[in-house]
Amino acid sequence: KEHISQIEAFTAQTKEEVENFRIKYLGKKGILNKYFADFKAVPNEEKKAFGQAVNQLKDAATNKVQQLKEELEGKEEEKGIYGDLTRPGEPVEIGARHPISIVKNQIIEIFSSIGFNVSEGPEMEDDWHNFTALNLPEYHPARDMQDTFFIQTNPDVLLRTHTSSVQVRYMENNKPPIRTISPGRVFRNEAISARSHCIFHQVEGLYVDKNVSFADLKQTLLYFTKQLFGKSKIRLRPSYFPFTEPSAEVDIYWGLETETDYRITKGTGWLEIMGCGMVDPNVLRNCNIDPAEYSGFAFGMGIERIAMLLYQIGDIRMFYENDMRFLEQFKSSI
Ligand code: PHE
Repeated sequence: KEHISQIEAFTAQTKEEVENFRIKYLGKKGILNKYFADFKAVPNEEKKAFGQAVNQLKDAATNKVQQLKEELEGKEEEKGIYGDLTRPGEPVEIGARHPISIVKNQIIEIFSSIGFNVSEGPEMEDDWHNFTALNLPEYHPARDMQDTFFIQTNPDVLLRTHTSSVQVRYMENNKPPIRTISPGRVFRNEAISARSHCIFHQVEGLYVDKNVSFADLKQTLLYFTKQLFGKSKIRLRPSYFPFTEPSAEVDIYWGLETETDYRITKGTGWLEIMGCGMVDPNVLRNCNIDPAEYSGFAFGMGIERIAMLLYQIGDIRMFYENDMRFLEQFKSSI
């Protein structure tokens, strides 16, 4: 018993100490072998108890040696790791943000800085929010402009074809002044090619207040393009959207410097980047905003298109293929 409590109390700092301890108890001339040698001389009736005690002692010593060895090895390993300050660091694999997220965040940042908040809505929409409230009543021919994926007809449930639906929801639930942008995923039943896809991302913007004019729209877009592209040569081409009047398409002059530029701009130097216009009075009325009191502008852009320009990406399908060789190139971007 005395031996056992000594064994339990024993500690060691070096391997040598452990080895000496082992020899003392378990070595050829060690304490245990001495007891085993004494065994023969023990009277028969005490043999059992004696044997049990010696075996207990042997177990205690063996376990202690094992435990001390493990402890010391652990400590040595630690010393190896932390003791050598010249050791090269362990490489930490970092991920990369998706280019769509990077560009989306940049757009949000720019509009936040001039007072726009961010609004979101459902990807699955009803007819009212995606079409009817936006001045696109049933059988309106302009519905064909947007090849819709229907989930259910009558009543219609569909995948939103633009995030203008979010702006309708926002106007229904908020009073002017309204300054909001709606980033999100949209769906159109289009053939997939290098330039278009059936799923893409948009940021649409809406500003409704008293006396909002087309000049405000132009100046806002000029500020935006300057911030995002570092270029501010834009032109507004008259266009048509059912929900804005007048409407325009915004082109940015990209110049023709590289081969990718040629591919993206088709050789003219001008590239269409968004649609915009003054919110049609009918749309305001549909959302319970009085067009006699308020006016507004709206705009919408595809994030893929803009990311393709900024990063000189020639094929929209790359965004959805999750090819690591593509994604890893955005590691250093924020
Ligand atoms: N909703 C239009 C689209 O998806 C874009 C747009 C938004 C145009 C707002 C004008 C005003 O193509």
